[in-house]
Amino acid sequence: MTNQNLFHKIFNSCVVLLAAWAIIHLTSCGQPKGATGPGYEAQRTARFDSAAVVSAHPLASEAGLEILRAGGNAVDAAIATQFALAVVYPRAGNIGGGGFMVIRTAEGHTAALDYREKAPAAAHKDMYLDSLGKVVPGLSTRGHLAVGVPGTVAGMWEAFTKYGQLDRWADLLEPAIRLAEEGFRITATEAERLNRYLDDFRELNTRPNAFTSKDEWKAGDLLVQPELAATLRAIQQHGPDGFYKGHVADLIVAEMQRGGGLITHEDLAAYEARWRPPIMGNYKGYRIISMPPPSSGGIVLLQMLKMVEPFPLAEMGFHSLQSVHLMVEAERRAYADRAKYLGDPDYYPVPTDQLLDPEYLRRKMADFDPERATPSQALPEATLVPVLESFETTHTSVVDPQGNAVSVTTTLNSNYGCKVVVGGAGFFLNNEMDDFSAKPGVPNQFGLVGAEANAIAPGKRMLSSMTPAIVEKDGHLWCVLGAPGGSTIITAVFQVLLNQIEFGMPLDSAVQAYRFHHQFLPDLIMYERGAWDSTFVEKLHAMGHQTREVERMAVIKAITVQPDGTLEAAGDRRNPDDDVAGW
Ligand code: DON
Repeated sequence: MTNQNLFHKIFNSCVVLLAAWAIIHLTSCGQPKGATGPGYEAQRTARFDSAAVVSAHPLASEAGLEILRAGGNAVDAAIATQFALAVVYPRAGNIGGGGFMVIRTAEGHTAALDYREKAPAAAHKDMYLDSLGKVVPGLSTRGHLAVGVPGTVAGMWEAFTKYGQLDRWADLLEPAIRLAEEGFRITATEAERLNRYLDDFRELNTRPNAFTSKDEWKAGDLLVQPELAATLRAIQQHGPDGFYKGHVADLIVAEMQRGGGLITHEDLAAYEARWRPPIMGNYKGYRIISMPPPSSGGIVLLQMLKMVEPFPLAEMGFHSLQSVHLMVEAERRAYADRAKYLGDPDYYPVPTDQLLDPEYLRRKMADFDPERATPSQALPEATLVPVLESFETTHTSVVDPQGNAVSVTTTLNSNYGCKVVVGGAGFFLNNEMDDFSAKPGVPNQFGLVGAEANAIAPGKRMLSSMTPAIVEKDGHLWCVLGAPGGSTIITAVFQVLLNQIEFGMPLDSAVQAYRFHHQFLPDLIMYERGAWDSTFVEKLHAMGHQTREVERMAVIKAITVQPDGTLEAAGDRRNPDDDVAGW
């Protein structure tokens, strides 16, 4: 190493440590404390010897832990956590939505499960357009027409059948049923969110439900969900048939009919989760395992990593002008491909091999100018489009004592999905149809544009940004991570990995560090409030970048295996309810 490199390394380490100290200090004072309620308190980060669960709510992490203690493996624990989240984290935890699960067994076997929602059979390409061909605002996000056929219950069953270790499926639902039947005290964040959407609930729901039972929610209020408990019991007793057929299916279809939705009994009965070959690739000796299409997560993540790999990021330093510019230019180029080429591979020939071909990626960066922003207009399909923010999804990372790892991201899309609870069945339905491209080039709620690859078609899965990922180092499990956050998920996973690999941060600092995001269109860098001072932002402007300050972006949940084999687990300061549990 040259003296100059050594100097850079030492200087960067000092900057990183200072930044990490500042972040931890600033975020532990003056921020709401973690979720509290009788019997629980959120713990954002901890070191464990053998097993760890990180989820968006202490009671859901505890559900996973309960299953691990009972002899379940990481897959069992992830399933129990997913069902518990459907009760205690109704804004994103779900049985009325879908998601993706990436698995790496202790022996190094990998798998990716797709339980993404599907467009109902009656859906069609122009269903959100008016007679003049314009997208009707709100139609793909609010109310019954926004709902895709839910995949969660089929996904959980599939994961259990293939990888579960416990004998009884019924045990995995027990914690969730208990929480729904007996109730639990809601957190301040949940109360705030429920209040924010109460008017929508009242407007869009066709039946009263647990969430509309109060005029105002407060932290510590008891939320009891007897209808949801009954639905979970049906799933407990009958597996997927308890959801996709019989009484619960009748309630879903009746709800659709009351509200003008499309989902039929046939749509429900036809839903299937799919195993898909995971996306895999290397970054400087680390092996990334993530989700293939219909998620864009794995491909876009690997494209970005491969595009920055040839550059001396560590020397450039964390949030230096050069490193931010380089990463932004990689993000821009990868998201441009996302808009053009990615969609449901069962419907569209996604050119995965080409998109990950090293020579293709090298060519994409050939016009990278270290001094100047490349306008997105210089890349194909560019127009300036507005970006809106409103999102909620949730991620769970689990490592069990045998060393099996699970990374699972699940969503209703927006907070509380389409805001409709299935009358009599007690759970929110997703608004995932908005993840399709309703019209080529017209942005969805995340400002993402798409084209034919992600056009609506009956039975098709909408493109996702969810990026559940597992990373190996030297052939061993190293990091399990993922996040909610819409389009900002992939860049968050990208940055948390680089914060650890290139900038030498311990996991918790890597997660809490400020982030930035570029998604090709709109052509601007979003950065979190507090990340940069005006001088830094002006320098970016001088290079030709536009910027926008935002409140927060994706919310990472991660576990990193330490050199001594212990597990560092970290939730994210961006969600005060994030919780790590383990032993
Ligand atoms: O699948 C997707 O990309 C989106 N439906 C995820 C939404 C999301 O992360 C919202 N979260 N905070």
